[in-house]
Amino acid sequence: MEQQSFLPFPHGFLWGAASSSHQVEGNTHNNWSVWEQSDRRLSYLKRADLITQYGKDNFISGRGCDHYHYFANDFARAKELGHNATRISLEWSRIEPQEGVFDQAAIQHYRDVIAQLKRLDIEPFVTIWHWTLPLWLSSKGGVAHNDAPQYFARYAHKMATALPDVHFWLTVNEPVIYADNSYLNGNWPPQQRNLFAYFTVLHNLLHAHRAMYQAIKAANGNAAVSAAENIVYYEAYKNKFINRIAKNVGDYFWNSYFFDRIKDHYDFIGLNHYFHNRIQLWSSRNENEKVSDMGWELYPEAIYHVLHTMKKYQKPVYITENGLADAKDRYRKWFITETLKNVHRAISEGVDVRGYLHWSLMDNFEWDKGFWPRFGLLAVNYETLERTPRKSALAFAKICKQNGLSL
Ligand code: BGC
Repeated sequence: MEQQSFLPFPHGFLWGAASSSHQVEGNTHNNWSVWEQSDRRLSYLKRADLITQYGKDNFISGRGCDHYHYFANDFARAKELGHNATRISLEWSRIEPQEGVFDQAAIQHYRDVIAQLKRLDIEPFVTIWHWTLPLWLSSKGGVAHNDAPQYFARYAHKMATALPDVHFWLTVNEPVIYADNSYLNGNWPPQQRNLFAYFTVLHNLLHAHRAMYQAIKAANGNAAVSAAENIVYYEAYKNKFINRIAKNVGDYFWNSYFFDRIKDHYDFIGLNHYFHNRIQLWSSRNENEKVSDMGWELYPEAIYHVLHTMKKYQKPVYITENGLADAKDRYRKWFITETLKNVHRAISEGVDVRGYLHWSLMDNFEWDKGFWPRFGLLAVNYETLERTPRKSALAFAKICKQNGLSL
């Protein structure tokens, strides 16, 4: 008879899923929702023939999953799925719709969200800024504006004061990815390709993070604060010298740049992880044996290597995102299981990993790609807004509930 084995996770490990306001809440009014309807965006979609392929509605965030109204139901689902943690983000454009004017009803909404999570005994991780901006700020130049760090800090202080029960705070989500897509390759609003603006934005996000860290601590001395960074596993193809140089450049800019510069301003590491990049010269040579619906290689071993590189920061690591677009749920169960085996291996070798938040709790609006990529543990029917757990969600639930993997 085959022997069953069990890989236990550390006591108190946090299990759950992540999402962000613009991607799930619905009816946001921010720089993204305006951009989605802009002539520039629509004419690009027409030119690239994407409207014929996916339909115009695919690219408009609209009512999203209406998580703004369904949150109690969604967290009840998460609870049934054995989650004891969840990551959400706050929608700045609701909270501060005009410069310096804070909307009490919007703040109360997030108080209700946190109270609901606490009632369910689900630990909240709250991201203050997941890429969307209030219109007053985007019209001033957005993150590139000189005073952006102060604006971020004022908003962070307001929310850390308003939500004293939140322990885990993430200041900014994936600053390097944001700067790259919005200011270098021009895919996201404000669609710039400007090296100077790119570095200005990175610089401002570093300052914003430090200022937000202090603002949150001033409001709540016990808070644990970090940023969420997208960490890529770079590998040098055949370990050749020239490939190693490219790998080091990748590691430097994508993986180390941000955390290395915010020393003494993080209490844990917020790790988002999706990519493996086996570099040959300056391009990728991944095997791509399995890929997601978005063509991203599924290479669960990558997280093991990435986790080892995080050891240098000497702080606990929380995996704040990891997942795949897989509408038919062909690979998700396998992907989660293999990923967690690798997380377990890293833990057993001394990496202090304390939580795993899958991306995402439910299908959602995948930025410039729109609604078609399906990242959810819960499948969403966008006509009826019905949520249905995918089979993989049930497999993940078993892992969460028993705090470990049965193999
Ligand atoms: C972002 C999410 C996004 C996910 C999948 C992460 O980089 O934080 O907002 O949906 O990747 O692309």
